[in-house]
Amino acid sequence: MHKEKQHIAIFASGGGSNARKIIEYFKNSETIAVRLVVSNKKDAGVLDIAQLHGIETLVVHRTDFAGDDQFLLELSTRNIDYIVLAGFLLLVPAYLVSAFPQRIFNIHPALLPKHGGKGMYGHFVHEAVKAAGDTESGMTIHWVDEHYDEGTILFQARCTLAPEDTPEDIARKVLELEHRYYAEVIEKTITEMA
Ligand code: GRF
Repeated sequence: MHKEKQHIAIFASGGGSNARKIIEYFKNSETIAVRLVVSNKKDAGVLDIAQLHGIETLVVHRTDFAGDDQFLLELSTRNIDYIVLAGFLLLVPAYLVSAFPQRIFNIHPALLPKHGGKGMYGHFVHEAVKAAGDTESGMTIHWVDEHYDEGTILFQARCTLAPEDTPEDIARKVLELEHRYYAEVIEKTITEMA
């Protein structure tokens, strides 16, 4: 039987500029729909963005998220096929990885395997890139497994850094790449797997 649309749940903890791009990108898609936005922060900007677009939201507490049955039920009742992490700061628990094998996307604001792992998020990443004197940075889209930033890499895009670039300059260059490619790579990957 042909299923009409693949349902995505976006998980985000912050402002949600990537989530916004993804929501806008799939707004008129006939094959993929953003069905749910999940956040662990009740005042996350991403929740306002979702509401603006008429997308259902769910706030999870660290403890609810760590248990399994109830949260999996929230996802299955909405027929979620794929999870997209967009600036989501909690570790995805093992039960969720097992329930969604090669169905959880993450984006990391550096060229993994460099500058990844626990504690490497947001400005910490760009400060590490600067401190290492790297001449390039970029972003990585990968499958999520039980370890931070270690799943199979699906796509990377690079940008050149100038010696005078500050961590803020690096962040800006990388975010531009994230906005340009994340939704497109999600679409291509899901389409190829369908
Ligand atoms: C992005 O840089 C993403 O790579 C990282 O967190 C940031 C989220 O930004 N994981 P936003 O909330 O999408 O604006």
